[in-house]
Amino acid sequence: MNARIMGTGWKLPVFQADNEFLSKLVDTSDEWITERTGIRSRHLARDETTASLAEGAAKEALARSGLKASDLDLLIVATITSDTDTPSTACRVQAGLGASKAVAFDINAACSGFLYAVHIAEAFIRSGIYKNALLVGAETLSRLVDWKDRSTCILFGDGAGAAVLTASEEGGILSQTIASNGAKWSTLSCMGRPNQNPLNPEKTAPGYLTMDGREIFSFAVKTVPVCVEETLEKAGVSKEEVKYFLLHQANQRIIQSVARRLAQPEEKFPMNLDQCGNTSAASLPILLAQLDRQGSLQRGDKLILSGFGAGLTWGACLIEW
Ligand code: COA
Repeated sequence: MNARIMGTGWKLPVFQADNEFLSKLVDTSDEWITERTGIRSRHLARDETTASLAEGAAKEALARSGLKASDLDLLIVATITSDTDTPSTACRVQAGLGASKAVAFDINAACSGFLYAVHIAEAFIRSGIYKNALLVGAETLSRLVDWKDRSTCILFGDGAGAAVLTASEEGGILSQTIASNGAKWSTLSCMGRPNQNPLNPEKTAPGYLTMDGREIFSFAVKTVPVCVEETLEKAGVSKEEVKYFLLHQANQRIIQSVARRLAQPEEKFPMNLDQCGNTSAASLPILLAQLDRQGSLQRGDKLILSGFGAGLTWGACLIEW
């Protein structure tokens, strides 16, 4: 059995912070941010939470899939910004939807999280263990960044995207490549709260997200094209047959560089990062849902989804829509 996407959804916080807004917080400018990243604005959570955004995106995807909450066997939320360490965001979404039969859990693979969720769900569906899965990428990165650090706070935004995968005779996920390199974990990381264990107390302040931007940039532009080529090769599909390459929305220059390395026209690389920034695990499902809603995807279209992020983690999947 193949795993096919039957419905998509997304949810963004109401408040939009443009580059002008950020230039009042840190020493930066609209010109610098736009030139180096392509980002002009991002949505930031004020009243919204990771769970409420996830639930909003999940409800839309479920409604559009034609399935009921009670049909769901599996519910995975990919996030690095769960509102609660426990329970998982997935369990809270399960409660909000009333998906009482679903096995619900979170996964942490940073910006590659949605692709990891697809990888897991596809294996369950292909093996016949589960039939219907709801996958959500949901983040409030605004809670992790240091709002005094101009090199990171300008990059990220909040939001959630979701997709329902169901067992199908044809189409769906055709091939995948997923990888991790823990040896490079410190390139992009966020330490947790100080340890209060009386045997080993740490007096450090709670951690914020820290990043070696140049190293991540170079990792992304080298790794993503190789990963995409490998994924296409597994399915015997050529680059020319792919309608859209949906890449993790981190930086416009990364996407343009990948397009050049794959020798494919930039028009095949849709972007929403100018309005959303980098929403980590939510980035790919938001972009997919927006394309779906614009009517840009027809049954039979071939799409590549590819992402990279902290861990380091990366991956790609080839979908027949
Ligand atoms: N506004 C103005 N100046 C800034 C700035 C900001 N927001 N952030 C950094 N600068 C300054 C630096 O201090 C540096 O100044 P200096 O030359 O006086 O030291 C200068 O701009 C260049 O900094 P640098 O870090 O070399 O810029 P860059 O061209 O590499 O762009 C990133 C920085 C972060 C935009 C880029 O490296 C990037 O996008 N990397 C990938 C990050 C990413 O995608 N992370 C998420 C992965 S999932």
